[in-house]
Amino acid sequence: MNLILLGPPGAGKGTQAKLFEERHGLKQLSTGEMLRAAVAAGTETGRKAKAIMDRGELVPDEVVVGIIADRLGQPDVKKGFILDGFPRNTAQAEALDKMLAGKGLKLHAVIEMKVDDEALVERITGRYTCAACGKGYHDRFEMPKVSGVCDACGGTQFTRRADDNEKTVRDRLTVYNNQTAPLVAYYGGRGTLKTIDGMAEIGEVTRQIEAVLKGL
Ligand code: AP5
Ligand code: MG
Ligand code: ZN
Repeated sequence: MNLILLGPPGAGKGTQAKLFEERHGLKQLSTGEMLRAAVAAGTETGRKAKAIMDRGELVPDEVVVGIIADRLGQPDVKKGFILDGFPRNTAQAEALDKMLAGKGLKLHAVIEMKVDDEALVERITGRYTCAACGKGYHDRFEMPKVSGVCDACGGTQFTRRADDNEKTVRDRLTVYNNQTAPLVAYYGGRGTLKTIDGMAEIGEVTRQIEAVLKGL
């Protein structure tokens, strides 16, 4: 099964993609996570991307299209993949169509996660992750069972993203509304679009996505 999770910053794309990776062995392909790894590693791509990401703008199409083209050629996506944060504009969606056609791959569904703007700001400004294993948490909505200790790996160091402040979140939302939201019409015209209520709690969002997959 090959899916796209389409939704604004904080919609829950990463949270759900990780759950579906565990549940169904679908590979999460998050361009944001790959770019943050490049920033942390200090590669040339990372150095160029950092300032753009900190402003909440889009990294150039050729960079992210190149990253995804490379990932779709690797064997770990054979069981299926979930694109999280890609495509983000019409040019990227067209490039993806060409890549998939070239590899004989099908896109089974584009799942649009709808969440109100104010909820997004609250979700993002409260978000943090385990520095050791990357598991995501939230100050109010997703706390570790033992305070300060990661449920998954026992790690005690946590990090917050450089772009997770209120000012940058609002800029990222503007970029989403101007450049990414038109993809709803792009995929809606092809019948692959499924819209779910991303305002529901995490487990309920998972159930909605499971229901979409069952219906395919
Ligand atoms: P990216 O990393 O993709 O960030 P984003 O799209 O802004 O989305 P987020 O990761 O912030 O949100 P999410 O939907 O994954 O939410 P999460 O599950 O964490 O991109 C970052 C930057 O990289 C971009 O700004 C751009 O510069 C660059 N970039 C990336 N891809 C690019 C591309 N294709 N082209 C060009 N540039 C690109 O959830 C958020 C929080 O809410 C968590 O704390 C979670 O615990 C909580 N939560 C989740 N679901 C729920 C729920 N149902 N109820 C309550 N809380 C919830
Ligand atoms: Mg994410
Ligand atoms: Zn951990």
